[in-house]
This record gives sequence, C-alpha cells and structure tokens, in this order.
Amino acid sequence: MKKILTLLIACTAGALSAQTLQSPDKNLILTFSVQEGGKPTYALSYKGQEVIAPSHLGLELYSSNEVQFGEELKKNTDVNTSLYDGFTVEKVTTATADETWAPVWGESKTIRNHYNELVVTLRQKSTDRAMNIRFRLFNDGLGFRYEFPEQKNLVYFVVKDELTQFAMTGDHYAWWIPGDYDTQEYDYNHTRLSEIRAVNAQGRQANLSQKGFSDTGVQTSLMLKTDKGLYINLHEAALVNYGAMHLNLDDKRLIFQSWITPDANGAKGYLQAPTQTPWRTVIVSDDARDILASNITLNLNEPCALADTSWIHPMKYVGVWWEMITGMKEWSYTYDLPSVHIGITDYTKLKPHGKHGATTENVKKYIDFAAKNGFDGVLVEGWNIGWEDWFGHAKDHVFDFQTPYPDFDIDEVHRYAKSKGVKMIMHHETSSSIRNYERYMDEAYRLMNKYEYPAVKSGYVGNIVPRGENHYSQWINNHYLYAIKKAADYHIMINAHEAVRPTGLCRTYPNLIGNESARGTEYQAFGGSKPNHTTVLPFTRLIGGPMDFTPGIFEMDISKNNPNNHSHCNATIANQLSLYVTMSSPLQMAADLPENYERFPDAFQFIKDVALDWDESHYLEAEPGAYVTVARKAKGSDDWFIGNTTGIKGFTSKIALSFLKPNTRYEATIYADAKGADYKTNPQAYIIKKQKVTNKTKLSIPAVEGGGYAIRLVPVKK
Ligand code: NOJ
Ligand code: CA
Repeated sequence: MKKILTLLIACTAGALSAQTLQSPDKNLILTFSVQEGGKPTYALSYKGQEVIAPSHLGLELYSSNEVQFGEELKKNTDVNTSLYDGFTVEKVTTATADETWAPVWGESKTIRNHYNELVVTLRQKSTDRAMNIRFRLFNDGLGFRYEFPEQKNLVYFVVKDELTQFAMTGDHYAWWIPGDYDTQEYDYNHTRLSEIRAVNAQGRQANLSQKGFSDTGVQTSLMLKTDKGLYINLHEAALVNYGAMHLNLDDKRLIFQSWITPDANGAKGYLQAPTQTPWRTVIVSDDARDILASNITLNLNEPCALADTSWIHPMKYVGVWWEMITGMKEWSYTYDLPSVHIGITDYTKLKPHGKHGATTENVKKYIDFAAKNGFDGVLVEGWNIGWEDWFGHAKDHVFDFQTPYPDFDIDEVHRYAKSKGVKMIMHHETSSSIRNYERYMDEAYRLMNKYEYPAVKSGYVGNIVPRGENHYSQWINNHYLYAIKKAADYHIMINAHEAVRPTGLCRTYPNLIGNESARGTEYQAFGGSKPNHTTVLPFTRLIGGPMDFTPGIFEMDISKNNPNNHSHCNATIANQLSLYVTMSSPLQMAADLPENYERFPDAFQFIKDVALDWDESHYLEAEPGAYVTVARKAKGSDDWFIGNTTGIKGFTSKIALSFLKPNTRYEATIYADAKGADYKTNPQAYIIKKQKVTNKTKLSIPAVEGGGYAIRLVPVKK
C-alpha cells in the first residue's frame, strides 16, 4: 500500500523553505534544505535530539579530460564536475508505505516495511541537469540515495567522489575498524571519534591483502554511542554497481564524509542514467536492542528476484577445514612442485607430502560424523588442484575448480555422501583472480550440479587480478553479484568469504546464504581475537546480513591440535554455543574437529539441536562490546532458543520469558559458564541444567568475560 502526494513547487533558491519528514511514529524528523550556493543539505533528529547535524549531500564527477574514454563517450561526459551545488528544488514528492513481506529465511517469518518517503527533485540550472534525493524515514532510522533520471545532459558519467556528509553532534564513542580497500578482517577498536587518528597511526593488524587510505578512515557498518546514550549506526543498503562506502572523519569538525572504494584508476563508479547510488543508512535509537532488531537494511533492498526459491535451504555443516586452519593438515597435495600450470601439470606422477586434508578417506570420516549427528552438509577444502602455488603471485590462471587431486575421488565421495543422506559443500578459492573464476564459472557450477553440491563457499584471498584492483570497488562488487545471479541459474547457494561486506542483498537473492566479510573464527587459530568480538559483530558486520562465522570451537588451546600452533581461542564453550543464536545465519558450521566434539557430547548436543531459521526473534539485552541476549522461535516449531554472548567483563543476564506461549510448560536446557570458568585459563568449564519454565518465569544467569549461555526450550507434552 503506497500513497503518493506530489507537490509541485515553483521556487527560487532564496525562497525555499526546508522540507521536513517525520517517521511513522514521529520520533525521527528529517529536514532537507538547499543552502547557500545551492547545496543540498539534510539533518536528522530523534525524540528532539540532533542525531545528524546539517550535512551536505552531493557528488563530484570526473570531467572528460580526466577520464580515459573513447571519443563517443567523451561527448557525453564532457560535464561540469559538480553535482553538489548550484541546485534548486524543482519538485517534492511524499509517499508512505506500509507492507509486510516474508523472507525465504531469516530472523522472523515476516518483516514490516513501514516508512514515510520524501523525494526531492533538484535541478542544476547552469547545466540543466536533474538529480533526485530519495529519503525513507522508518521508525528506526533513515535511508537515502541519489537518483539520476534519464535526461539529455547527464547520460554517461564517472563518480570522482561522493560527498555525503554525516555531521556528528559530539565526540561520540565508536566501535570501528580501519578503512581498507582490501580487508575487513580486523578486531574492533572502541574509542572516541577524536582518538581514531592516534589508534590508526599505531599501525594495523596484518592481512594477506590490505590497503588503507587515511588515518581517520573507518569502515561501515559503524556503530556509535553518544554521551547521552543514543545509539547510531551508519551503513549502506543495496550496494549494486558502485564502490563500497567507507567513512572518512574530519576530526576537527567531527564530520564523516563518504569515501567510496575506488577502482584501479581511482574511479568510484561508472554510471549510465537512469540509475541510482546504493542507500546510505542511519539507524537510531536510545535502546541498543532496536539497532539489532532493525530491518532497514533488508527493507531498502529490492524484493526477491528469484521466481522459484524452493531449492534454497538453511544448512548446518561440518568440514575438512579446521585441520588446515590450525596447521595440522594442508590444502596442497605435494611439496614437489615449484609452480603449477593448470592443464599441464600432471599430479599423478608426484609424491604426496602426506598432510593433504581432502583425501577420500578423511572426507568419509566427516560424512560419517555428519550423518551420525544430523548435519546437512560437509565442506571440503583443498579438493582441487592448484594449491601448491595459489597465493602470493597475483596469479591469473591459478585454479580450474574442477580437477580433483589424485587422492580425492569425487565420484566415490558423491556416492558415499548420498548413501548417508549428506550433501557436499563445494569450495572455490579464487585467490582473487576474478577473471579466472569467471573463465571457469559455468563449468564449475555444472560440475556441482552433476555431483549434487547445493552450496559453494567461495573465497577471495590475496590481491585482486586484474592487478591494481581493490576488493570492494564497483567492478569487483559487480563480479560478486554476477556469481550470485549465475549460481541462482544453477540452483546453487553461495557463501562468499573475503567478498564485500553485505548490504542486505540476500533479500533480493536469497541464495546468498552467507558471507564472511569480517574477522571470523579462523583468527582464533591465527593468534586469537578479542574476547568481546562477538558482542560487537551483531552491531556492525551483521547489520548487512548473516555471517559464516564458523563458531563451535571446544578445544581453545590450539596447540592440543597442532603442537606448533600456540594460538588460543578467546572464548568459553558456553560462549561458542551461544553464537548459534546470537549470530543468526541460515548457514552454520560446527567448526571444530569431530574428536573434540566427541569429548564433550553433552555440550555438542546443543549444536545438534539448534535451529537455523526463525519465526520470531526478541532482543532481550544488548550493549555493544558488552553483551547480546536474544530469544528466537524456531521456524514452524514451538521450540525456542536463547543465546547470550558476553564481552568485556562478566555480566549477569536477567531475562523474563514472557514471549513464550501462555499456559504452556517448557523444559529448558541451560548451557552456561560454570563457576570458575575463564576464557583464558578455564574455558571448558560449563554446566548443563534442566528446569521447567513458563511465560511467567524470570531467569538470572551469570556469564564470564568471553562467555555466555545457550538455552533450548521445548514444550512439555501433557
Ligand atoms: C580464507 C577463508 O576465510 C578460509 O575459510 C579458507 O579456508 C581459506 N581462505 C582458504 O580458502
Ligand atoms: Ca577470511
């Protein structure tokens, strides 16, 4: 249901009054005006408090002599470079929408999309060009984007900079990671805005591909908290055909400005009207739980583009993976190859080094384990040739995604898995050679269809080929989407690692069932992550969509798996269980080794039982960096699951189970940190307690730093 009201305004710049727009509940007010010099400007308030102080909007374009174009295009791009001043308001349109839609999978069965909208058509007199700014104001925040209607004087153009400002009203606290064109795999910093420069100057955690751009550059989704207790989240939605947005802080004036990831030539977006930018989002509340419950990012994406989604299924999986990540096994097959030539190198004549993880025999062990414990799938990495020199050379033709190593019998693995009712999950490490992946994509997806692999984990480690490109620029972002759309043609689900951070595109393409795009559990075996990392991720990375975080580590002392690896997983077992609930995802891995689960069968039971898809979610307690408690009802079932993840210091969670069905008794199985649990020195200390509860029950459960709890609630049959 959408009501549209159009106001035609005949005006001169001087006579312009500001436009205001209220959220449906009237708590948020957006003000738009064209300020001196014809500069579009917006501001946002929440319950009378300023959230975004007056901030300019606009873009700067390349002029034709700055961009290398052919003569034809040059004619169309010979433009005045400003799309940020000289504007007057030509037309203002308002509308309101209130609809409910059903995601294919997710945190709730239905999602309400309720907003008031303001579209301002701006005209730049000197160039006779039009640009719209579309604002949507929800009860929990704002989305806005630039739109470029079809017109004679703006056809092909190249964005040099997007000049969107987010002017802060004070020196807020921020949970931030450094701006980077090539990696998002950082621990979060928690500082005031004015401290970002000094922390950045101390250097950054190393990654296999990284490129910073400014001492005050940060990534979105950025989580902020004001001294008055307001929570503000800045991110983007529907990132399509454009570079991903970073934010750069002017730390004297405390103004963030959009900083779009450039391509190898520095361009932020090659556009052709009619078109639009992604949405810029500001989620706001005085209650941190509302930030986690917000559906703005999904609502600003287009509805599902797939006619048939019956083949999309949430999956719980194990895999031949942690063995390699901890260094016990290897992805490669032999040490006898200085380099690989795909199509020429004959592996059958080479001596195996004996540490290859993806052998038929080892894979069968995982298939047996999956079948025995009710898992849907088994991921196998290192099954295909090319790993001997996959990294470090920005190599173009590195994998073919279809030739198995001699000790991985793809026919037999398929037969065996099928006989046990287990699906195999494909792995495509592209080593960031985009061209090579696209070269083989159809054949690779066809092979998956032949062997009935329903899902692929893809990866983009290392520097991008074409060389000089960045991980989050327009061209590469188009590649990630191309892979998702093409996979849909083959009924394949995608879980892309190291790809651009998600922006809600899983609404439109629900076969995008997972992304990594942040610091995942693998870092617990690469030296460790901060113990409160998983209390920050729901407020940052997860705002854009689910994460393949790969939780479930039970053996925190990594040297117990591999004596040469002295990393420590900074979490308790109860914390690891809670993540299956606090980090909602339709794709969940039990990442540890089967033998580590066999040592703790009673705790492992929770991972076996936990649901992947939900009818309802209720955020009960939340504070970034400190704790997140959420209750979720399993889809199509009366079972509930509750998770609490605790961060920087111990926390006693106090919750009321009022969301449960009235007049019903449930058996609660509580998996919690035991007395004396400590994420460093005593992480395996947990207790399991059973008790009967109803919707009148109140629980008080202590959790330690880096700890938490998980609860399963099942109605008691009368
Ligand atoms: C990095 C990914 O995050 C990890 O899960 C994978 O095992 C390696 N790349 C190899 O592809
Ligand atoms: Ca990774």
